[in-house]
Amino acid sequence: MDAFRFGVVGCGGRGAGVAHLITQIPNLKLVAVCDIDEARAKQLGEQLNVPFFQSFDQMLAETELDAIYVATSVEQHFSLSRRAILEGKHVLLEKMMTTSAAEAWELVRLAQMRGVCGAISYQLRFYPVFQKWCELGQEMQPLLIISSRNPGIMPPPYLRPEPWAGIIDFLTHDLDLVLWVAGKEPESVFATATRNAVTKTEAIDSLCAILDFGDFSGLTYGSMGGWGMPSVHAVVGQKGNVRIVGNGVEVNKWFPLPSGTFELVNDVVSTEIVSADTTDRMLLHFSAWVQGEREAYPLATFEDGLKVMLVHEAIWASWQSGQTIHLNDIKRKLEPSSF
Ligand SMILES: NC(=O)c1ccc[n+]([C@@H]2O[C@H](COP(=O)([O-])OP(=O)(O)OC[C@H]3O[C@@H](n4cnc5c(N)ncnc54)[C@H](O)[C@@H]3O)[C@@H](O)[C@H]2O)c1
Repeated sequence: MDAFRFGVVGCGGRGAGVAHLITQIPNLKLVAVCDIDEARAKQLGEQLNVPFFQSFDQMLAETELDAIYVATSVEQHFSLSRRAILEGKHVLLEKMMTTSAAEAWELVRLAQMRGVCGAISYQLRFYPVFQKWCELGQEMQPLLIISSRNPGIMPPPYLRPEPWAGIIDFLTHDLDLVLWVAGKEPESVFATATRNAVTKTEAIDSLCAILDFGDFSGLTYGSMGGWGMPSVHAVVGQKGNVRIVGNGVEVNKWFPLPSGTFELVNDVVSTEIVSADTTDRMLLHFSAWVQGEREAYPLATFEDGLKVMLVHEAIWASWQSGQTIHLNDIKRKLEPSSF
């Protein structure tokens, strides 16, 4: 099998890291890098011994590649992905997918029309412990799915007022995890958030979002003021509950007894310890998925990314209005007949 050829656009911290990874993975090949900041592109291209470009159009025109990894800031995700898809390239796109659900929907449609694969870099899905949590959580018949992380104050590039920056950019992973376990999108969303409570930078610094799936609920919360607060990944279900503890998943199942009481069975399911980030696994799975292995992987597709973006949009609307927002109202604004 020929190596799967990636071009990386955006040579900042994330793009440079991914470009280095690609060069270390058998069966993947880095063929070019691109950044509007010429010095960054040059430095990375020379380090990794691949052609470098300042213009994305030029990279597309002058290199033979199968897929683009988009690692620019969120504002450029839509236009660069759109351009790549129109050239028939597969796209692995950094989170969050776009700045709006309308843009995400356009990318989903375009990728379908052009027959290319699109995925979002929600790499938490590739940790064995999250996979086991998702599997066991679904078995519990969820009543409540919780995903919460607290990053502390985020780096300066994220401290901006845009509704897709700040803590939102971090908790988008958690929203994806909740939707992943749920296996469907919520009917409605209610959210509260704060600005300037922690950083005085106009960035959104805390969020609490409740997702109503009809027969169960999801909860995502987190704050830049949450130093030392534990992450919580838990599913409370009709058959028992599960939560992540280190590299294991603690399971509490209960069984009804004839006496009318319950017997509680407690277990911890250990999972493979992954020392590094799981982006390498995601890159490999993406290339396999593009090459036809569709079922086996937890990859977040463009369709999954769109679901997260619908929830993001509902969160913004709910926070601003103080109302519960129905996802159908957001969808209707995109394209009435498409959902
Ligand atoms: N999945 C993860 O865990 C993870 C981790 C970190 C960052 N990210 C995401 O990765 C993306 C990049 O983050 P970063 O920290 O590397 O940002 P960064 O600002 O360090 O780098 C972005 C780079 O993109 C370049 N760029 C902007 N517009 C461009 C264009 N039109 N063509 C070519 N290059 C362009 C900029 O010059 C810059 O060098 C963001 O979407 C961020 O949310 C994801």
